[in-house]
Amino acid sequence: MPYENVNLEVQGHVGFIKINRPKALNALNSATLDDLLGAVDELSCNDAVRVVVVTGEGNKAFVAGADIQEMQPMSPVEGMSFSQKGHIAMSALEALDKPVIAAVNGYALGGGFELALACDIIYASEKARLGFPEVTLGILPGFGGTQRTARLVGPAKAKELIFTGKVITAAEAFEMGLLNKVVADDQLMTAVEELASKILSAGPVGIRLAKTCISRGLSMDIATGLDFEAEAFGLCFGTEDQKEGMTAFLEKRTPTYHGR
Ligand code: COA
Repeated sequence: MPYENVNLEVQGHVGFIKINRPKALNALNSATLDDLLGAVDELSCNDAVRVVVVTGEGNKAFVAGADIQEMQPMSPVEGMSFSQKGHIAMSALEALDKPVIAAVNGYALGGGFELALACDIIYASEKARLGFPEVTLGILPGFGGTQRTARLVGPAKAKELIFTGKVITAAEAFEMGLLNKVVADDQLMTAVEELASKILSAGPVGIRLAKTCISRGLSMDIATGLDFEAEAFGLCFGTEDQKEGMTAFLEKRTPTYHGR
């Protein structure tokens, strides 16, 4: 279904969510968050899609934040609802049962950075600029930034970024452990598509279960996480993917996976 502020495209087994509000550098207003959630739901139900890529339309911004125009007059209750709407969209993306790659092609500020952090893997153009300018606007990150940043790089680095509101280069973000890879601007989508192809060549059930183990395991104690992993590992042995993958190895041929 077409969305006003999000372009949704499927190419082969890859679904592309492109935030598309060029007049506001792809800033996330309520309508865009609704579109994002709709697009995530649609890709979740599309079994042909095995990898999802999130990016921004245009060559300047991934997403320049939550929409300041919309937020400026909000009451406390409206502010809380807006934050919760952001959480619902980001958490739906994070919980997708397929790998999600962020292709950060420009400014990823505030809600834009939070959108990238809700993805599994982040590739960025060398011209990307990232940060949490919220404190410079009298607020704090409200789409998951205080939680996901600290979990990714630890509380001290998260606090320095968030307390200062400073905007950093892609190279600095990589150095801090916030990004998987930085590539030349004109190579970003090629690099992301190569990563997607590599993931697509592997067994879809194993990847889906690995994502669940890693994501859910982060909120478990190690013993519970290991139990969860053992159950997921065992489950693989009831799939065609496992029989095909191991048979192909023994027969010295390339496996053909069907994700079942
Ligand atoms: N919310 C609403 N509108 C935004 C926006 C946001 N987060 N970010 C950019 N825009 C709008 C601008 O208001 C401007 O609209 P206008 O043409 O109607 O005046 C348009 O997008 C272009 O932005 P502009 O500031 O003119 O571009 P720039 O190249 O000079 O600066 C940025 C780019 C990203 C540095 C700057 O737009 C910026 O600081 N944006 C806000 C970032 C932020 O604080 N995000 C966190 C929000 S919680």
